[in-house]
Amino acid sequence: MTVFAPPKTYRVKSFGCQMNVYDGERMAELLSQQGIAPAPEGEQADLVVLNTCHIRERAVEKVYSDIGRISKDWRRNDGTAPLIAVAGCVAQAEGEEIMKRAPAVSLVVGPQAYHRLPAMLAQAIVGGRPVDTDMPAETKFDVLPARRKVGPSAFLTVQEGCDKVCTYCVVPYTRGAEISRPFSDLVAEAERLVDAGAREITLLGQNVNAWRDADGRSLEKLIEVLAAIPSLARIRYTTSHPNDMTGGLIAAHRDIEKLMPFLHLPVQAGNDRVLKAMNRSHSVDSYLRILDQARAARPDIALSGDFIVGFPGETDAEFEDTVRLVEQVGYAQCFSFKYSPRPGTPAATMDGQVPPAVMDERLQRLQAALQRSSLAFNQGSVGRRCQVLVDRRGRQEGQWLGKSPWLQSVHFTGDVAIGDLVEVELLEAGPNSLAGQLLHPAHA
Ligand code: 5AD
Ligand code: SF4
Repeated sequence: MTVFAPPKTYRVKSFGCQMNVYDGERMAELLSQQGIAPAPEGEQADLVVLNTCHIRERAVEKVYSDIGRISKDWRRNDGTAPLIAVAGCVAQAEGEEIMKRAPAVSLVVGPQAYHRLPAMLAQAIVGGRPVDTDMPAETKFDVLPARRKVGPSAFLTVQEGCDKVCTYCVVPYTRGAEISRPFSDLVAEAERLVDAGAREITLLGQNVNAWRDADGRSLEKLIEVLAAIPSLARIRYTTSHPNDMTGGLIAAHRDIEKLMPFLHLPVQAGNDRVLKAMNRSHSVDSYLRILDQARAARPDIALSGDFIVGFPGETDAEFEDTVRLVEQVGYAQCFSFKYSPRPGTPAATMDGQVPPAVMDERLQRLQAALQRSSLAFNQGSVGRRCQVLVDRRGRQEGQWLGKSPWLQSVHFTGDVAIGDLVEVELLEAGPNSLAGQLLHPAHA
């Protein structure tokens, strides 16, 4: 049994989606409230929280190798080992198994239970190795400390879980059924984020556009109310499901100026037979119609999506349909993945699992098509003047990085500060970023 001194410093390492980033920030705030300080960059922390992702196999393997590395390296350094906590979706899916497979882990906590971290830490310190993967009735959001300091672009989880049951996906098992947070809590949290320094808020949910409150308000209403917060400049939302893309939300892209012209709407594949096997409950055509409506509402809207190649049974010809769809839509930026069988999901035991070499080749082909698409989209922006929200320093002296309304990374030089919203002319495009010129006077 390993006993620990109460940790004085912590580090939270988040993998996976933006919701995990949000959870990681909230865990950090909770630990800070307990008097534990963030470990300085490059220094050992007494407590390491691995906030894990279960979506693909590689993500899971990475957790185990991280656990091994952290415990080995640090023991070698000064003879002591940090307390390792595993949080997030791997914790949820494999709680007890982690404890068995990785003796260096002292605590396992799922994404719906992390507000209980302080009590669990007290147990872990005396060698208790607690595991909590409950989906409790009380919500973590009611217990977590208020947000104090955030960057210019902040995340706000409004909805969690998924009722869609796509046949490849673990999310319904790791994050549970769809749950929407109450309207007034979200408005209050958004106001606090703005007070804490946010100028842009991205509303998060596994199915964010399925957000509904008890009074029947839907996402566009929430966006409309948040848009009235004076010093909030921008609103975004992600990730959406095509079947929850209502006319009202599409119209919000026309009517609400602070809602940015960007829509992340995963399609996964460009072939109806594959979509049916994935249990996506939309067709290629119905998806394209939604994109048409979005473009009618907001002609400059940037489109984004997720793709899976090599779903069981996917033929070469069916894969080619996906490439054709990408060429037809003209996406601004996308994520694409090789299919990864997840234990417990229906697709994992389907016939026709695609050999790894075929998947590699398809992914390469798709990514080349997506690169061309992003480059064309960015080239189409050259000459535009737009507002850029400055979020980081660039690598070169005097260089700054920020995001355009279309979520492009823009770099430029000039006399600005992080959090400024400045006018920039876009000059030169690559597939992943654009060079711009700061226009004066810059309004902060
Ligand atoms: N294999 C590969 N990619 C997956 N995704 C979800 N489950 C899997 C899986 N089993 C992808 C989907 C989803 C994104 C978050 O991850 O494209 O939209
Ligand atoms: Fe990964 Fe999905 Fe969990 Fe996000 S919700 S951390 S993508 S498994």
